[in-house]
Amino acid sequence: MSSAKTLKASRILGVGSYVPPRVWTNDDISKMMDTSDEWIRQRTGIEQRHWAGPGVDTTDLALVAAERALENAKVKKEDLDAIVFATLSPDHDFPGGGCFLQAKLGVPGIAAFDVRQQCTGFLYGLSVADQFIKTGMFKRVLVVGAEIHSRGMDRTPEGRDVAVLFGDGAGAVVVGDCDGMPAEKDSQIYSTHLHADGAFAKELWVAAPGSAMGADFRITHETLDRREQFPQMNGKTVFVHAVKRMPEALMEALNANGKKLEDVDLFLFHQANLRINEMVGKQLGIPPEKIFNTIQKFANTTAATIPIGMDEAVKAGKLKKGMLVASAAFGSGFTWASALFRY
Ligand code: ACO
Repeated sequence: MSSAKTLKASRILGVGSYVPPRVWTNDDISKMMDTSDEWIRQRTGIEQRHWAGPGVDTTDLALVAAERALENAKVKKEDLDAIVFATLSPDHDFPGGGCFLQAKLGVPGIAAFDVRQQCTGFLYGLSVADQFIKTGMFKRVLVVGAEIHSRGMDRTPEGRDVAVLFGDGAGAVVVGDCDGMPAEKDSQIYSTHLHADGAFAKELWVAAPGSAMGADFRITHETLDRREQFPQMNGKTVFVHAVKRMPEALMEALNANGKKLEDVDLFLFHQANLRINEMVGKQLGIPPEKIFNTIQKFANTTAATIPIGMDEAVKAGKLKKGMLVASAAFGSGFTWASALFRY
């Protein structure tokens, strides 16, 4: 993995986010499925989520977040070299959302591709951007995480454990090179660490459509009747692995850079469940005020949670230039990752 000892370094130049305006409280969704504010709040910490209206695609949310990140970074879109787009809810099966976003942003010709790593997608994307910049191949990379979950949820009693967890939204960062060797206190990405264990792929997945359907079509009436187009999750297994892997990944990041937990100014975790983040914090002895959570307002926006959290933290005055940030995520795959950077 990357390290601050390499001659080239990358840094986050700017951040932006966007969520669709319509808010759905737990009480609102209790009217459309068999659930309650009490159940959702107690088990997950979620109070509300934003869901996109008709005619809005994942890349429409991504476009606004990307434009805001470019403005915040003071980078012209013409100066971008690549788009890395993290999503599990692309506008279409193919091509990837990165291509649709590139066309909407109006930057033809530059590299554009998708990262399919679900809740860990943003950190995988950040790592890809970091490596491109460290090798000198690119100077400015847009990394976007965006999702529309609200159109892919099973709202029957079988699917309600998953359906209540997710929101729609997008977040983006512009990653750029550092001029020369960065000083210790300058913005820079120190490291990223990426992991996966495909043995657990079916603990949190969507089976169809797919080429493994054993039929001539990627989706059939039978798979639809079995509701295989909706996410299926073994929530308890996900929980148990998340509270193990996130601390591991965090400590790996700190150890690789000779830093201690006390050196970190802000922890930006993926937002799957407030209880997961509380348990990670408790295990490591992190003061709760150093963990910035947004799940209460936005629910789980998968690849978008970390850049949305970063943008919200900046707006709330909790994240300032020069602060040391540790980020960790865990999700479907299973995949998990961490990043340590000075903002
Ligand atoms: N509303 C009301 N009751 C519900 C709901 C709901 N939305 N969902 C399930 N229940 C009921 C169940 O039917 C069950 O009832 P029973 O006791 O009568 O059988 C009861 O609540 C308990 O259900 P469990 O599934 O055992 O609930 P659990 O305590 O495990 O909590 C939860 C479920 C919140 C999903 C938890 O397992 C969790 O957070 N897991 C981690 C999820 C996660 O991190 N996902 C992120 C991954 S996203 C990604 O990577 C794409």
